[in-house]
Formats: sequence, structure tokens, C-alpha cells
Amino acid sequence: MKIEITLLGAIIALSAIAERTEMSLDGDWHYIVDPQEIGFRSYHDATDSDHDNMLYGRNLKQRRPSDLVEYDFDASPTLRVPGDWNTQKRELYYYEGSLWYERAFEWKKTAGRTFIHFDAVSLEAGVYVNGKKLGTHVGGFTPFEFEVTDILKDGRNFVVVRADNKRRADGIPTKGFDWWNYGGIIRDVRLETRPDIYVKNWRVDLDRTDRKTLTAKVQLDKSVAGVEVELAIPELAISAKAKTDETGAATLAAAPEGIELWSPKNPRRYAVTVKAGEDTVSDEMGFRTIETKGRKILLNGEEIFFKGVAMHDEAMNGGGRVTTDDEVAENIRRAKAIGANFVRLAHYPHNEKMVRACEKEGLLVWSEIPLYWMIDWKNPKTYASAENQVREMIERDIRRGNVVVWSMANETVPSKDRNEFLKRLAAFARSLDSTRLVSMAMEVTSAKNCVNRLRDDLHTEVDIIAFNEYIGWYRNVADADKMVWEIPYDKPVVISEFGGGALAGRHGKTDERWTEEMQRAIYEANIRMFGRIEGLAGVNPWVLTDFRSPRRPLAGVQDDYNRKGLFSPDGREKLAAETIRKFYETK
Ligand code: GCU
Repeated sequence: MKIEITLLGAIIALSAIAERTEMSLDGDWHYIVDPQEIGFRSYHDATDSDHDNMLYGRNLKQRRPSDLVEYDFDASPTLRVPGDWNTQKRELYYYEGSLWYERAFEWKKTAGRTFIHFDAVSLEAGVYVNGKKLGTHVGGFTPFEFEVTDILKDGRNFVVVRADNKRRADGIPTKGFDWWNYGGIIRDVRLETRPDIYVKNWRVDLDRTDRKTLTAKVQLDKSVAGVEVELAIPELAISAKAKTDETGAATLAAAPEGIELWSPKNPRRYAVTVKAGEDTVSDEMGFRTIETKGRKILLNGEEIFFKGVAMHDEAMNGGGRVTTDDEVAENIRRAKAIGANFVRLAHYPHNEKMVRACEKEGLLVWSEIPLYWMIDWKNPKTYASAENQVREMIERDIRRGNVVVWSMANETVPSKDRNEFLKRLAAFARSLDSTRLVSMAMEVTSAKNCVNRLRDDLHTEVDIIAFNEYIGWYRNVADADKMVWEIPYDKPVVISEFGGGALAGRHGKTDERWTEEMQRAIYEANIRMFGRIEGLAGVNPWVLTDFRSPRRPLAGVQDDYNRKGLFSPDGREKLAAETIRKFYETK
């Protein structure tokens, strides 16, 4: 009898782990600040690719009294991970450069495959485990990982991460942007062990036409055919089965009765599990459809108005990047306090905890990459970074039913190069996900004699026409009542930013800068004007909470804060919050 052991059978036998396991690497990491980048080069100034000469990545130790080693992570101070360095150490408040983190951890070899996974490192990362360089990642707000299966050893291991938040003219973001350039391992880090064949990505979408059929697409990390895949949604009595094809992909569909569709009023989520060979993945998901019809946005086939608010990924009370559930909860409390059903998570992908909490709490999400202002449109490296960040953003949140808009850019000046770059990027986003809306925050093209014209050749590439306007703040508020709008595109219009500044607690006349009364007058004038914009399907006050920016130095008023918030960092509501709340009550 010929015993034929298939490759698959052999792999399954080897990967004898029944389910994934995780080990957090959050906590205190040692750090060394490296403004002259000596840490990733040898003294002979070797290049980054010459990884055998890595210095700090190798975490050298003085072995003999005569050894010359001019750094020692164990003797260095610590930073909390996750967390930006700027708000943890006064001396790092403005720091822009490379900073090296290191921590040790105990490990016990196990079957399966182990990955070191970072939720985000700002703005670029170099990762080394046990002195071996794993690679680099560009993009400060999206997850990435490296396999460490054959690098980890029983007992003590160590990981070194170079975080580099230098602004780059060819970067995404580029040199100039109106937010604080937080640096560091700003989100969670963990080791994750999976079966030898595991689910690389998966999604479940509700059919836009019948709003009944659920289609799951499962992709293994290996091109292995014949692996049995099962989709289970117990509350809908779904238990569908299929086998992967030669690319390691499987598609499963089911049309259960009685799906409760996700919406802000009923943020219903379902427990979904996918089994594939030895691997099991699960999630809590909301099912809904989003589309446009003429100048209307339809959620689950019904017209909806995005009662929005824009916000940065910044914790209350002067905190830095959001890392905890409490910080997420406070930002959501404030958004709901003004009656929002939609949040523009500007200007980069926010913490996944925020997106998930918004789904649970019934807040629709606009998500975007930090492609902002003066981008190096001609540079292929820049385009590659933009495309990579779009892919990582979409892959991370592809199962979040509340995410309805992928935005490609913010306030970019029209030009041939910009149009080609963004047309290609929008098409790329759609190639990854044709179920959501694609947009970008444009700018009003001209506003002579109170006629606001929006002309942008990229109107063909977006599903909604979104633009930022600052009538009343950067332009004269008196004109707001005379403003007329010409947006000659048969698509829904969303104002992606509007508003003005105020220092919480400062009061005075409506024409006095920085008073709450002036900010409120700007909101009142804009709200009156909204009624005259044909096809207006949503607005976003800029911004929920005052946020840090090095472009806002006015001592005694701004003090490194952009003061356009409806809330002060410590949570005091300004008068304009009531104005927008009342407007949203009419919607
Ligand atoms: C721009 C930009 C925002 C900025 C805002 C402002 O529209 O998109 O990031 O903070 O204006 O000037 O406050």
C-alpha cells in the first residue's frame, strides 16, 4: 500500500497548534536618542542595507573591561510603549529624528509560526530581533509585521526598534502639516503565533442590491488548494463551507433571513468566525450598504446626512496619541455630545481601538491617509508609500461596517502630476474595496464676489465631492449670507472642514478673534449658508477638540494648539457646540 503524505497533510501535522496565541510586548522599553543616526550604521558609516554592521540593532554588551561599547540599552532610561515620546519626556517634546527602543522578553519555542506585529510606529521603523535586522516599514499610522519563527530562541530574546519621525519632502506626510509630529512606537506591539497555514486576510460584505446576501472572501497566506474553510454566524444560523482554490482563496455566500443592518441608530454587530484548516479567526461585524444616488448618500438604501465632526488622534487633557480605551471613550463621548453620527478621522488612520469603538457606538467613519498639501507628485517612492498606506489602511479596517469613506488626500493643489497621482491612487483603493465610497478633501477653486466655484478634474474619481471651507475665519464672515455655490457635479456634497478658532472661556463681541462668541457666529452663519448648497449631504466642523500643532504658537492663546475645537483639551464645551448640536437635531 503506497502511503502518500500530501504536503498539506505534512504541514497540518507539523502545525499542531489548534489556535492562535498572542503575547503583548507593551510596557517599558529602554531607549537611546540618536539625532546623528549613528545607531544604524557602523563607525565606518556603512549604509542601512549593510545590516551585518548594524550597531544598536545588535544590542552589543561590554564583555571584557577592555571592550569599547559606547551604548548600553540596559543602562538607558525607559519609555512606555505604546505611546509617543513627545508627551512622555519634556526633552523629547519637539524631537524629530531617530530614537532606538529595546526590550528583552522570555520565549518558549512552540509549533506554528510567530510574527512580531506593530499596530503603528511613527513615522518609519527599523526592526531587529536578537541582532538580526528584519526590515523597515514606512508609514506612521498603519500596522505591519515580520515573521520571527526561526529567529526566536528558548529563554531570553531581545527586540530593537529604530523609530524615525523625521519629516521628508518625499514623504507621506510631507514636510508641512498642521498637527504635532508625534514620534515613537505609538500603538501596541505583540508576538502572534499562528498555524503554519493561516488566514492572511478575510472580509464579509453585504450585497448592495438585495441587502440579504453575505459574501465572505478568505485568503490564506499560502497558495494551497483544498483547505476546508467554514464561515459561521450563529445568530443568523449561517454555517457555510467551501474549499480553497489553487491560490489559497475561498468564497462563501449565505442569504439568511432577518439580518439587522448596522446603522448609527442601531449599531448591530454579529459574531463572525472563519475556520480554515487549523486556523480560526473571528470578529464582531456590522453589515450595511453604502452608496450614492445622484446627490444623495444612501445607507442601507435610505438617504442619510453625515452629521459629522473631524478629529485628530489625540487624547484628552493634553495627551498625545490615543492608546487606551478610556481615551477613545472620551473622544467618542464628545462627538456624540454634539449629536454626530459621523466622524472624519483626520488626517491619517487612527488607532484601531477608535474605529472599533465607533462601530460599537454607531458612528460612521471617514478614514484617510496623511497625503496632505505639498506632495512630491513626481516621485515614484512617494507614490509607492501612498499606495502602501492605502492598502494597509483598507486591509486593517475592511471588516468595519461603520467605515464608509476612504479618503485619498487633503487640500492638494490641482496639477497634471497631482491629478495623475491621485487618479491612480483612487483606482487602486477601489481595486481593493469597491464596496465603500472614495473621496478626498478638495478646496474651493474661486470665490470672487461671493460666488464659490468648485472645479476639480478629479470629480470623476470620487463618489462624493468633499471640500474644506473657512468662511468666517480665513474669509469674511459677513459674506456668508451672500454666498452662492456652484458645484456642477451630480454627486453628493460633503463639507469636510469648516469652522473657526476660540480660546475656551474667552468671551467678547462676535467680531473679536478667539472669543467663543465669534466662533459661534461663524457656525451660525455657515449653518444659514448650508441651506443654499445643492446636494449637501454632510458637514464636518473642524474640529472636535483643540489639538497640538507647531504652526499655532500665539502665546497666551494658542500655545502650540490649534484652537478650532468645539471642546478644549480638558473637555470644556465652547458655545458653538450648542449651535451645531441644534443644527443636527434638525437633520
Ligand atoms: C486646513 C487643514 C487642517 C487645518 C485647518 C486649519 O483645512 O486641512 O488640517 O488644521 O485647515 O487651518 O485649522
